[in-house]
Amino acid sequence: MSELHSLLTFPERPISKSYYVPKLQHFLECGIPATYTLEQVAAFEREEDDKCNPTLEVCSDDDKTSNTTPLHVLARSLPLDINDEELQVVLEMMNILFEYGAGWNFIDYEDKTVGDLLLERNQDRESPLYRCLVEAGISAELLLRKLNGGDVEFLDTDESEEANPEQTTKLPFDSEEQEPVADNDATAANQKVYLQTKLEYKDDALITKDNKDGVMMDWETKIMEIASKTLFPDPKATGSATILNIGFGMGIIDTFIQAQKPYRHYICEAHPDVLEKMKEDGWYEKNNVVILEGRWQDTLNKLLDEGEVFFDGIYYDTFSEHYQDMLDLYDVIVGLIKPEGVFSFFNGLGADRSLCYDVYKNIVEIDVGNYGMKCDYTTYSLDEQLPDWNDVKRSYFNCNYYYHPHITFV
Ligand SMILES: C[S@@+](CC[C@H](N)C(=O)[O-])C[C@H]1O[C@@H](n2cnc3c(N)ncnc32)[C@H](O)[C@@H]1O
Repeated sequence: MSELHSLLTFPERPISKSYYVPKLQHFLECGIPATYTLEQVAAFEREEDDKCNPTLEVCSDDDKTSNTTPLHVLARSLPLDINDEELQVVLEMMNILFEYGAGWNFIDYEDKTVGDLLLERNQDRESPLYRCLVEAGISAELLLRKLNGGDVEFLDTDESEEANPEQTTKLPFDSEEQEPVADNDATAANQKVYLQTKLEYKDDALITKDNKDGVMMDWETKIMEIASKTLFPDPKATGSATILNIGFGMGIIDTFIQAQKPYRHYICEAHPDVLEKMKEDGWYEKNNVVILEGRWQDTLNKLLDEGEVFFDGIYYDTFSEHYQDMLDLYDVIVGLIKPEGVFSFFNGLGADRSLCYDVYKNIVEIDVGNYGMKCDYTTYSLDEQLPDWNDVKRSYFNCNYYYHPHITFV
């Protein structure tokens, strides 16, 4: 362990500004990077040992993939009995580390973010230390977007991981520009590949046939029920409402929408196997249902051009799309939604990590703000609902709470 790392284990109590802040500043000013990891220290030490004893192994597999940064050491060492004064000093130390370029989203040797560690040390999601981390994440994400000339690049917490099946926000490229590749992981990441992939309806899920990506799973039923209710701005007048759902999947939300007997219920769906299933299940015969076959990128612009339909509620839950697609969607929905209308979406943005989920919660607020809209969240506990993920390739939701977004014009 380096002197910087040792200092961040808080060997002296109480944690005083006079003891810790000048020392931390000194190490960083001397040139120790704020991203200097325990793995780098270990590799350096092994290299030194290796010079004396060339038979030693240079680096273990764990060391190659994890990045235990000074912030991880600080969070892991945070005393459980820390008092308010000490907390302020730690906050100042975190801010100094960020000033010197510390990263917010690295994963340590236990596959944890600094956010995970702070939560374990009794700092909840509203605590100043956790908020400081979230703010750093938001700034980094917005800065990265500026540097990319406006294009969204979701900051990946673990580049070795595969694509996130639902709302694949983690991948930096634009699905439109990607050529289909014969890669098993590509269905979740690439819309062209996904739309050519065979799907399979199981009792509790819709999955891709070849590589078992979860397109939709019935553990989301409660979320869909809650969302369907909020899509009707006037609960007493559901019979006169016109609703649009983008992405049919298992038809869970559409069934809840139908139960409220809307005047018109538009469903936009792009995948041929899903459209086939909708035919089999009689969705084409329902009097108040209008099916828009094709990608929303194609069908909704047509509606916009015609200028004849405006929606009370719009829901968005697709697959193999990226956060950039959602930004593109905002351009369309502001023209299709009534002034008092509601927009909502399945919020799995960054939900494989608490910290990323919180960062994206804020990013959405900022983005819809640019369209004159506001996003109110209601938090629901998911303890009961979350599946064991045995039947799908990869879990896409690991938080045990859900931020339901309710977006309206200001
Ligand atoms: C997660 S499922 C939707 C689940 C749905 N909310 C439910 O309650 O069952 C995603 C659906 O979006 C469809 N989809 C993906 N990309 C789309 C696009 N660009 N336009 C329209 N539908 C799309 C998929 O084929 C899939 O049926």
